[in-house]
Amino acid sequence: MAFKESFLWGGATAANQYEGGFDEGGKGLNAIDVVTNGSATEPRCVTWKKADGTTGKSPISWGGEYLDFPADAEPALVDGFYYPSHTATDFYHHYEEDLKLMAEMGFKCFRLSLNWSRIFPNGDDPEPNQEGLAFYDKVFDLCHQYGMEPLVTLSHYETPLSLMIRFRGWHDRRMIDIFENYAKTVFKYYKGKVKYWLTFNEINAMEMCPYMGGGLLDDNAQNRAQGAYNQFVASAKAVRAAHEIDPEMMVGQMLAYQPAYAYTCDPADQVLVLEHDQQMLFYTDVQSGGRYPDYQWKKYEREGIKLDDEPEDYELLKNYTVDFLSFSCYGSGVLTTHETEAKASGNLGMNGVKNPYLETNAWGWATDPQCLRLALNTLWDRYHKPLWIVENGIGWNDQIAEDGKIHDDYRIKYLQANIQSMDDAVNIDGVDLMGYTMWGCIDLVSNGTGEMKKRYGFVYVDRDDRGNGSLKRIPKDSFYWYKKVIESKGSDL
Ligand code: BG6
Repeated sequence: MAFKESFLWGGATAANQYEGGFDEGGKGLNAIDVVTNGSATEPRCVTWKKADGTTGKSPISWGGEYLDFPADAEPALVDGFYYPSHTATDFYHHYEEDLKLMAEMGFKCFRLSLNWSRIFPNGDDPEPNQEGLAFYDKVFDLCHQYGMEPLVTLSHYETPLSLMIRFRGWHDRRMIDIFENYAKTVFKYYKGKVKYWLTFNEINAMEMCPYMGGGLLDDNAQNRAQGAYNQFVASAKAVRAAHEIDPEMMVGQMLAYQPAYAYTCDPADQVLVLEHDQQMLFYTDVQSGGRYPDYQWKKYEREGIKLDDEPEDYELLKNYTVDFLSFSCYGSGVLTTHETEAKASGNLGMNGVKNPYLETNAWGWATDPQCLRLALNTLWDRYHKPLWIVENGIGWNDQIAEDGKIHDDYRIKYLQANIQSMDDAVNIDGVDLMGYTMWGCIDLVSNGTGEMKKRYGFVYVDRDDRGNGSLKRIPKDSFYWYKKVIESKGSDL
């Protein structure tokens, strides 16, 4: 089957993993600029310093574990550590070459994030940094020259460090207006150039990795709940502002979606899946559905969580739901109340046990040929908002073969199955899907591990886990395959 003419095929990236130029063009530091590299077994760490000059590092929390960050420390750059975001794969200096490659594949859309601290170095400066604005302006102009629609995330784990130091994260209500001002500034500046916006990448990362998701240093259940609340309100205000500034603009939410299966038919396992789904869909129930769901109020009541809220916030949440619902989905997870040995891992630490029916990559992420159809149907039936898959793909330690090429048939196989699965959702189930942007369309730094060797791209970038390499770009076999997929509107897989 095929996808409609207007379907937005493309690829996705994020500034903190791709852009580099961390101290160029007047940019300030952001949350990730003080996060070290890690590996499949070693966590990434946020480095810090104290007033007395002591320095140290705290492992970034994943999968619900709380971040243990000293109360009297500030996140900071510390000598002797390697910070992968600083150069990343250097879009800052390679954007012309990279956009050309994307255009060659026939991209209709390119997802990137604005590095908030490139626009406002401290997050809330009185005036934006003109050099930062000009950089993305050049990028958007070139995108349009190539017929690519930009899809722009306002905050992809890039909370400006100065805000984190002053407010210690998104649980501080002042963040709402600061974000609204940032959003308004870029909506006005890029009016006519950017139609599609996302507010917070994987907003539910607040729960699984609140340092990344919410810039939270003082991590506990109360702050996570308040952080999510503040982001919801900020996002609703951004939707309102976008519509006022340019009625053509569409603002989406972005959720990390992972279908969960029960490991056994024990009813207790089904309840576990229900609770997992509630915790994931709570974020869409608010941003796409317009109200806090009852199960969440009950949860807060049980846990003694009290929100610092205002009645008019709930009006905003109801009146300014998102225009479309986008999500990431890499595979599925399996949950059980029973003891099993084979543990699994997944995006943002959405762990569980191993699915015996599925293959995994070297990082233990299960590749599930049906996950997109499941995700799309659940979200479509629950909200009836247009959907957009803005992340999907497979991390692999690609090697350059003797012929100088990268034969990534495993990636093609993964994408064939996943695109077929979204085709089924559209053409069998009637889901309204706006587009598909494959994650990490050009190699970039892994968010979870900080590694370079966990590669996703159609284009290889010569750079290793310690920052060595020429940054040369080499199209992989999947580059030519994806070009053919786009040309055939998805019918030639
Ligand atoms: C999502 C993020 O969590 O998944 C991306 O939005 C991230 O930033 C992607 O890179 C893949 O995860 P990882 O850990 O393999 O980079």
